[in-house]
Amino acid sequence: MIAVYPGSFDPITLGHLDVIERAGLLFERVIVAVLRNPNKVPLFTVSDRIAQITTATKHIPNVQVDSFSGLTVTYAKQKKAAVLIRGLRAVSDFELELQMAHTNKTLDENIETIFLSTSKEYSFLSSSVVKEIAKFSGPIEHLVPQNVAIALKNHFKDLAQDLAVSD
Ligand code: PNS
Repeated sequence: MIAVYPGSFDPITLGHLDVIERAGLLFERVIVAVLRNPNKVPLFTVSDRIAQITTATKHIPNVQVDSFSGLTVTYAKQKKAAVLIRGLRAVSDFELELQMAHTNKTLDENIETIFLSTSKEYSFLSSSVVKEIAKFSGPIEHLVPQNVAIALKNHFKDLAQDLAVSD
C-alpha cells in the first residue's frame, strides 16, 4: 500500500523524520509530498526542501520525495495512494487534523487518513519553533537533521551579514 505524507516541511524536523521512519515500516512506499503553497512565504524554496528531505531520508529505502500543488487527495489519487499520513504531537493538534481528515474524506471517500503519534521527545517540536531558535543563533542540532541544521545556520548567517551591511 502507498501512503502520502503531505506537509510544508519548512524545514523538516526530527519529529517529521520520526513519523516518516515509522510510516516506512508500515507501508510499501511512503511519498513525502511538499505542498507548493502560493499563500505562504516559506523560508526555504520547494526545491531546497525536497533536497533537504531527500538527504535526511536516504537511509529509508521505500521513501520518495516529491512536491504537489492543489488538493492533497487529488495528488494522492494520482499517485495511487490509499492513505494520507499525518503526525499528532498533542491534543492541540487534534482538532485541526480531524477537520482536515473529515474534509479530505468528503473529497475522496477512498482515501483514509492515518495518524501517527510523534515520539514523546518531539511533542513540542515544530518547524516554526526551530526557525525561531535558529534566528537567534540558538542550538538546533537536537531538533533537525544535520543537513538542515547546516542550511538553517547558513541562512541566518547570511541574513545577519546582510543586516550588518545595511546598518
Ligand atoms: O505541514 P502543514 O503545513 O501542517 O501541512 C498542511 C497540508 C499541506 C497537509 C494541508 O494544508 C493541505 O493538505 N493542503 C492542500 C490543500 C487541501 O488539500 N486542502 C483540503 C484539506 S483541508
